Amino acid sequence: MLRLGLAGLGHGSTLLGANGPENQDLPIRVTALCDVDEARLSQASADYGVERTTTDFEQLVGQSDIDVIGIYTPGPFHGDQIVASLNAGKHVMVTKAMVYTMKEAEQVIEAVDRSGRVLLVTQTMRGDARHMESKRLCDSGAIGELILSEATYVHDLRPVYTDTPWRTQMPQDLLLGGACHPIDAVRWFMGDIEEVHCYGLRGGVATDYPQEDNFVINMRFSSGRIGRVATYCGVVHPPGLLMNGLGLFGTRGTIIDGRVRIEPEGDVPAREYEITFPENQQGHSTEMLVMMRHMADCVINGTKPWVGVREGA
Ligand SMILES: NC(=O)c1ccc[n+]([C@@H]2O[C@H](COP(=O)([O-])OP(=O)(O)OC[C@H]3O[C@@H](n4cnc5c(N)ncnc54)[C@H](O)[C@@H]3O)[C@@H](O)[C@H]2O)c1
Repeated sequence: MLRLGLAGLGHGSTLLGANGPENQDLPIRVTALCDVDEARLSQASADYGVERTTTDFEQLVGQSDIDVIGIYTPGPFHGDQIVASLNAGKHVMVTKAMVYTMKEAEQVIEAVDRSGRVLLVTQTMRGDARHMESKRLCDSGAIGELILSEATYVHDLRPVYTDTPWRTQMPQDLLLGGACHPIDAVRWFMGDIEEVHCYGLRGGVATDYPQEDNFVINMRFSSGRIGRVATYCGVVHPPGLLMNGLGLFGTRGTIIDGRVRIEPEGDVPAREYEITFPENQQGHSTEMLVMMRHMADCVINGTKPWVGVREGA
């Protein structure tokens, strides 16, 4: 059983689902908690029965009976915390954005290579059941050769800024903190990007956020195929619109947000259907269970992380 020390109990608290009785088969558990917010720390400790707590990240990392550190603190802390964890011999699960600067990216890559430990960036779209099924369909050849992909992330962040003021007070970059979701999604399906062009605009809707918060990105992949990413975090979000959209266009079919059409083949007529899963198998908590299982697989069996340090950078 792998023992995980979890730092940051906002989005990070979704990892605590791994401790639930229904997830006994997972070979990984959260055994220690760290947050500088003492009220949040004691609440999570009581809710999930994790007795060992600390407000000091160094203290968490120094514990010899922890195998993996989960880093879910504000983004600008990630670089130093990843390096400290790897230097202490721990494996690392870290939320996006892995880091914010090229210098940090180089330091983290060097520390992973030197330590030989696993680093997984938990890009949640890869744990979404509908996207995983879309990936399975594409890999099976069902929609032919992928020729085009587009991914969108539309999220009016104004209420998020109110709940988590660090997002407007610390150095931020929504190209890394927001656009990384759809960029990772298209790379997952289409492979490496060879050429990219991006426009950014500060929309002015989110008055607290000082930088560009809307981006339009065009890309050409190494395969010669093309794609597009739209990330709008400084707009008014209408009801019913998916936050994370994904379009996949193949030579024999198309999948858009789980709606599938596969062209007729021989005597088999065209197929049109929607990929669906029950409500309780969707959302960040379920996605994080997928990530925990994958992390355990990487550490125990040496599987390559879906998003490792170089993809994260
Ligand atoms: N879908 C996703 O992948 C997703 C969704 C939300 C947030 N995130 C990421 O999660 C990270 C945290 O965002 P959030 O929304 O949870 O913010 P948050 O403010 O709700 O949570 C961060 C927590 O970290 C704690 N913290 C701050 N400094 C610390 C330190 N030095 N040591 C230990 N704990 C510390 C804070 O007290 C807070 O409880 C960010 O990197 C964000 O981009 C990812």
